Amino acid sequence: MTERTTETPRHPAPVVVVAGALYDRGRLLAARRSAPADLAGRWELPGGKLEPGEGPEEALVRELREELGVEVEPGERIPGEWPLKPGYVLRVWTARLLSGEPRPLEDHDELRWLSRSELDSVDWLDQDRPAVAEAGLRLPER
Ligand code: CDP
Repeated sequence: MTERTTETPRHPAPVVVVAGALYDRGRLLAARRSAPADLAGRWELPGGKLEPGEGPEEALVRELREELGVEVEPGERIPGEWPLKPGYVLRVWTARLLSGEPRPLEDHDELRWLSRSELDSVDWLDQDRPAVAEAGLRLPER
């Protein structure tokens, strides 16, 4: 039998994808993915992968700046963690729009601000639905 000299973890730490429940004036931002093909046309909370050494709130601020061209202030984490493709998990933070008007600069082809009563009006990615429900409960009045 060969000795193992280096330990390979059976379950390496998953890649964390951070997404934002972005609020402005009592509405939540929904973003329609333009790629990859199997996700295109479905709606999500915008975000992306944590980079090495980056904190989740820091990653959220960076991703929303890159994808939407806005500055945001992260708020609380929405409790829970949702599996994406194997090796990836989704974590969601609330965030408040500080400046800029979101534009679909990267990854999306349409954006929509939804009031509480409109939350079910778009075809959310399955993995985002629990977080969207929680985000709706936390939607500020204005
Ligand atoms: O921008 P970056 O390449 O870092 O990440 P991304 O491509 O936006 O997201 C990484 C993965 O997480 C993709 O498979 C997305 O579909 C998924 N994702 C998701 O399922 N729900 C979200 N709210 C955000 C990302």
